[in-house]
Amino acid sequence: REGYLVYDPGLADTAICRSEITYIDGDAGILLYRGYPAQQVAEKCTFLQTAHLLTTGELPTGAQEEQWLARIAASTLPGNPVWGPLFDAMPAGTHPMAMLAAATSVMTSLAPDGASSIEQAGFDLLATMPALAAHAFARVEDRPRRPYDPSAGYVENFLHMCFGDSPVATDPAMVHALETLLVLHADHEQNCSTATLRLVSSSNAGFFSSVSAALSALWGPLHGGANQAVIEMLQAIRDDGGDLGKYVAKAKDRNDPFRLMGFGHRVYRTFDARARVIREVAREVCGKAAHDPLLDMALELEEIARNDEFFLERKLYPNVDFYSGLIYRAMGFPVEMFTALFAVGRAPGWIAHWTEAATAPERRIGRPAQLYTGPETRDLQF
Ligand code: SDX
Repeated sequence: REGYLVYDPGLADTAICRSEITYIDGDAGILLYRGYPAQQVAEKCTFLQTAHLLTTGELPTGAQEEQWLARIAASTLPGNPVWGPLFDAMPAGTHPMAMLAAATSVMTSLAPDGASSIEQAGFDLLATMPALAAHAFARVEDRPRRPYDPSAGYVENFLHMCFGDSPVATDPAMVHALETLLVLHADHEQNCSTATLRLVSSSNAGFFSSVSAALSALWGPLHGGANQAVIEMLQAIRDDGGDLGKYVAKAKDRNDPFRLMGFGHRVYRTFDARARVIREVAREVCGKAAHDPLLDMALELEEIARNDEFFLERKLYPNVDFYSGLIYRAMGFPVEMFTALFAVGRAPGWIAHWTEAATAPERRIGRPAQLYTGPETRDLQF
């Protein structure tokens, strides 16, 4: 504290808003979506029903769900004039997260007039994100993009656009696994990217510009980029002989910048509520695909850390990113697509927070203070 200012660089003890959307009890490992335990939502609801819950506050009736499906299908018709410029904004040879950030930023000027209302913009984002992510995947694989199939379900559509008619796009277990992952990634209070979205939107920047900023924050390896970093870490350990103990020692060495990717969390002081569910989905999905030695390594690493004083003292447990990448890998996604998949799941949370911020009675532009440590006033002798 300096005078009336509190110095809180990680904003760990600073509430930047009041919110009714999601609640985390980090000590108990509880995650609630509008009051419902996220694990229950993942077991019983589809991703679109979860999106309805987070953005409106309630689960949809049958009629509301039909209406949402029709509106999302209408937003994604291949003839939609938005598509051409959007895909042109996604240059080949760049990382999928750069493609998504560029395309969503372009959407601010491209969105049809109706999208000036957040409700329509929310539909446009829910409809567009899977198509943009699937297109980024086509760019990565240097192949033509596949058409949207409005007759299939939301997740089936996405897998079809990514993998065509290959088994992963039609296997109910794979569809269920991805649906579970999208639901569990849908929102998570004021994480770095959602807080970024709120800060950018506080200047009355457009909805899609705020999403573009959130995508850039999510890309960081300490945040959503961790799911890519976990697989790269496990692969690097395997390439270096597979000695997990050596890397656990490096992670504990304060003079070594190495961190165990996928471990630790600013809020959770126990297991990340989502990681347990995702670990079991990883066992199921990896059990169906060709055996993946990285899953064995991940399970062994968790076991080592759960019995090591350093991790126990600091309450470092697997987080949402530790096992999710193994599932994406088993599905056939390249590692550079993993954080884009996280973004597809987080879209409903961003829509809900943008809407809540836009209508907050105490809405003000975000402008944090600072503690100045530079030179005193001095005359310029030049
Ligand atoms: C996500 O916020 C959200 O909700 C995000 C997210 C969401 O759904 O949106 O949950 C998604 O981003 C999950 C986090 C993904 N990131 C990683 O897995 C990267 C690895 N994790 C660490 O970088 C770290 O744990 C953070 C960034 C997640 C949290 O960092 P904090 O809260 O600032 O903790 P810290 O850096 O102050 O660490 C406290 C201590 C330190 O040791 P000491 O100085 O006390 O000796 O724990 C150590 C750290 O060195 N530590 C680790 C570690 N994480 C923390 N040591 C080894 N490996 C790690 N992963």
